[in-house]
Amino acid sequence: MKLKIAILPGDGIGPEVTNESIKVLNCIAKKFNHDVEMSTGSVGAIAIDEYNDPYPDETHKLCSESDAILFGAIGDPKYDNDPKAKIRPEQGLLKLRKKLGLYANLRPTKVFDSLLEMSPIKEDRIAGTDILFVRELTGGIYFGERGRKNDDNFAFDTCQYSRDEIIRIAKMGFEYAEKRSKKLCCVDKANILETSRLWRETVQSMEKDYPEVKVSYEFVDAVAMRLIQWPSSYDVLITSNLFGDILTDEASVISGSMGLMPSASVGLDNALYEPIHGSYPEATGKKIANPLASILSLSMMLDYTFNLKEEAELINKAVESSLINGYTTPDLSKNQESYSTNQVGDYIKDFIQNS
Ligand code: IPM
Ligand code: MG
Repeated sequence: MKLKIAILPGDGIGPEVTNESIKVLNCIAKKFNHDVEMSTGSVGAIAIDEYNDPYPDETHKLCSESDAILFGAIGDPKYDNDPKAKIRPEQGLLKLRKKLGLYANLRPTKVFDSLLEMSPIKEDRIAGTDILFVRELTGGIYFGERGRKNDDNFAFDTCQYSRDEIIRIAKMGFEYAEKRSKKLCCVDKANILETSRLWRETVQSMEKDYPEVKVSYEFVDAVAMRLIQWPSSYDVLITSNLFGDILTDEASVISGSMGLMPSASVGLDNALYEPIHGSYPEATGKKIANPLASILSLSMMLDYTFNLKEEAELINKAVESSLINGYTTPDLSKNQESYSTNQVGDYIKDFIQNS
């Protein structure tokens, strides 16, 4: 099969972890006889340095012409403490999502049995947790009108959603729920927000089309609490852009390390795969970044975009094996011994080669 992939390593540890995924991808391609065409583009702070634009047109062209995008990370501390910065690396990711129409962000949270003790939450609470967040990604308060007034003394951000935007994300949630345990939770703040009331009304009106799916409606503050108390009670959750951003960071703690969490951002004719962790500038260049989230994102890509189930499954098995054997970066190491970013990547590659 021919796979046309855009590689956007980005900032901080992005390039390091992405390199390990490329290594794994090349190995998979060789083993299963796929023809992979990769082209690299610039995004984030490095793109600002080079093009004065965190998502340059060249990069957009490259992404639009590819079947899927493998994304590293974005962000640089030199922008974080400057509230007046007009151009920011994060804008690159938002522009990319919007321009490619990547409206749904899928963030699975799974607990690996071999890592139960790594989680700060009690084992009996998290065992068996297998959640899929379906976060709306191109609307809401992220993209509403914002600004300053009254001589700069007043600021506002607006949250807005159309019924159609809600329908398409809810449809995805219902469809995943149908394929999984038939439980769907609609997360909102409908006791306060008008946009949330439209979400709830819209999702309620769709229930009849999915008779097997049992829908619960919960307020985001309560979900934030129950997610930590009883994570295994959730399955598929749908939510707006900002609530999803916050809840998925919270959920990443459940599994023991953010360095393990992959994600997919899907649209009509393209999809982007990325670790949910950020650019982790403190770790850049130290070879301690966990490449597994990126490698698992690659697995999601092979599965979702290319329907290469066997290949994806083999990567997941290799990851599982590295965890079981304690072949991990320091964030997951249970004793003194840990391995570098590229050693972990090599382990995954060798496992695939030899199986
Ligand atoms: C994420 C990130 C992004 C977001 C930032 C980097 C724009 O936090 O993907 O969750 O807020 O969506
Ligand atoms: Mg986030």
